[in-house]
Amino acid sequence: MASSTTPVYGNYHGYYSKRPSVRDPRLSLLPPSFFTGKTVLDIGCNEGWVTCEIAQLWGAARVVGVDVDETLIRGAWRRRRSLWSQQSPERDVIERKADDNSSPVSKRAKLDGDTDSHSYDHFPVSCEHSHEPFPIPTNTSPEGRFPTNVIFRTTDWLAEPVSEEYDIVTAYGLSITKWIHLNCGDDSIKRFFRKVHESLNAGGFLVLEPQSWETYAKARRMDEKLKENAKHLKLHPDDFPAILQDIGFGLPRHLGSVGEGGFRRPVDLYIKL
Ligand SMILES: C[S@@+](CC[C@H](N)C(=O)[O-])C[C@H]1O[C@@H](n2cnc3c(N)ncnc32)[C@H](O)[C@@H]1O
Repeated sequence: MASSTTPVYGNYHGYYSKRPSVRDPRLSLLPPSFFTGKTVLDIGCNEGWVTCEIAQLWGAARVVGVDVDETLIRGAWRRRRSLWSQQSPERDVIERKADDNSSPVSKRAKLDGDTDSHSYDHFPVSCEHSHEPFPIPTNTSPEGRFPTNVIFRTTDWLAEPVSEEYDIVTAYGLSITKWIHLNCGDDSIKRFFRKVHESLNAGGFLVLEPQSWETYAKARRMDEKLKENAKHLKLHPDDFPAILQDIGFGLPRHLGSVGEGGFRRPVDLYIKL
């Protein structure tokens, strides 16, 4: 789908310029090793900020971000390249170069007091603009290394067949569930959850950022079709935990709420039984 002017799928452009932080606080609700070595599907990834963070900072083996809006997916690829351009050289490169006192890497590392490869924003953003983005390595990186451990696809995820199983499915986003529910109705939301279940390995996790029914009001005002569709909805977000249990998930673990202002939302964790 190309971008439409009304973001009826929640396909907001510039979404991350409105969110207050670069490190997404929703991820900090999860245990530190939650994503380590895991395969992750991020449904409704928008411009891929959370997707890239999971791939770059949380040690995921492989992350796939999907979104229905192709312009946003182009933005997600750009985000990946931009983060890669800012990332510090690998630790072994820094350590090797640190012996050579004339090397700029050594000088910079010493100035920063930082020879740790976790210094991810090593190069300023301006570097990419003044020169060119760093080339993405051609598949020499092992799985689990950013940036080759993350890819993006444009797709209406609900419409495509299940082709791969993951350890973790994230449905962040204020509601990818809300947009699917409003656009396609009660049956579609059940279908969405069933499909998430099918897309997970046994014991896999769904990370869900549920929306309250009240937040549907603003979305309904956005578009006549959504308003009409909303009149026929019998299910409410409060029903989702029961639907998920019927499908084969355990009880939700409420991880808490984070974020500022209108972006303060709860995050729930479900396990596939
Ligand atoms: C509000 S954004 C959330 C962005 C991101 N997940 C986050 O929380 O930071 C919701 C995203 O879901 C996408 N979306 C909605 N319906 C979709 C569908 N059927 N398949 C794939 N993506 C969809 C929208 O295009 C939009 O970018």
